[in-house]
Amino acid sequence: MRKTVDGFSKFSKLEKVNWLVSTFFNDDSKVKQVLMQYWNSNPLLQDLHDDFIENTISNFYLPFGIAPNFVINGKEYAIPMTIEESSVVAAASLVAKFWSTRGGFKAKVISTTKIGQVHFMYEGDKTGLENYFNSKKDNFYKVTEGITRNMRKRGGGILEIELRDKTTELENYYQLHVTFETADSMGANFINSCLEAIAKDFEKEDIQIVMCILSNYVPECLVHAEVSCKVEELYAENSELLAQKFVQAIQIANAEPHRAVTHNKGIMNGVDAVVIATGNDFRAIEAGAHAYASRSGKYKSLTNASIENGFFKFWIEIPLAVGTVGGLTSLHPLSKLSLKLLGNPSAKELMQLIAVAGLAQNFAALRALTTTGIQKGHMKMHLTNIIKQLGASDEEKTFLIDYFEHKTITHNAVVEAYNKLVQEK
Ligand code: MEV
Repeated sequence: MRKTVDGFSKFSKLEKVNWLVSTFFNDDSKVKQVLMQYWNSNPLLQDLHDDFIENTISNFYLPFGIAPNFVINGKEYAIPMTIEESSVVAAASLVAKFWSTRGGFKAKVISTTKIGQVHFMYEGDKTGLENYFNSKKDNFYKVTEGITRNMRKRGGGILEIELRDKTTELENYYQLHVTFETADSMGANFINSCLEAIAKDFEKEDIQIVMCILSNYVPECLVHAEVSCKVEELYAENSELLAQKFVQAIQIANAEPHRAVTHNKGIMNGVDAVVIATGNDFRAIEAGAHAYASRSGKYKSLTNASIENGFFKFWIEIPLAVGTVGGLTSLHPLSKLSLKLLGNPSAKELMQLIAVAGLAQNFAALRALTTTGIQKGHMKMHLTNIIKQLGASDEEKTFLIDYFEHKTITHNAVVEAYNKLVQEK
């Protein structure tokens, strides 16, 4: 049977589902049921979601959780997090509470500019190109006036347009390297529209435009967040050792990319969860953060720790190009709600909150890893998941959680204990 199709995008949603089920699932009605049980009964809400992408056949839910008790720059927040991984929201909440009694988090935005590039090929004389660029530069601002008008009103726009010679990296390759300020929007469409208008004006016979696109590498859209306290306030037992292990954990990540990647992955657990909850583009954030972690030529930790004069300090520096207007932020009802929950922050404030969420995750991970080990918490969660799968009652659940307090949790052991409990009843 043919598994390719023409005109799929023109099918109605039901026709798409029917085609899929008959072509790939042998007309299994259960598959259709699984897909359709996620259709929202409110047709307007469903239409809204259908239209976010193309060829939508259902919705894919992710949990939407809240991590309360964050104190950031003296202000209290409950942070919305969208993530499928257990323990992340719990960790954020615990760490938020922990630092709320130790002065809270401090965060500041270091810079907010973004980059877009017109990549082109030119074989002629470089001075001729420079002269041509200089003769055109003022006009680039004119041809983009219509696009930048609203942005300029909001304090943004094009900050700089440079001609860059990249011929040592690639023969005949030059670029127009354009710096933007996009205020409270992430600005991807704005940047790309400006670049295309500039390229159109710049193009001529001996200049071959290859492409125009924003860069997701944003080392100049940078935010810093930190926590600090007296070493003895860090932890009840052996706080000096814990502080030392934090510093060593960072040193290990900086020395060993295998560890650094996992270390940063934990940070991104917090970062992505808030990025998604607020309707921002987590792929852009991921790409930019990991590139920044490699800026020295070696992949390293995004966080840092120090012990100085009896004070423990723990901080993160991360590039975050996010928006609080435009894109999905005001289209998705839950993103809108998330932003409202955060007090409708500016993009700068949101950068600070996201950096804090990343730092909090890293703090939780390093604290667990260097003390009890990560599995203790994970296995507890694993236990409750198995109990849930078994359909245990609340009473049975309490019994099993007590029973496994000091025992090794495996799937078989839990099933056996549950079966025994049921038989004994
Ligand atoms: C798991 O999602 C994240 C951790 O592996 C992070 C880390 O190892 O630092 C716990």
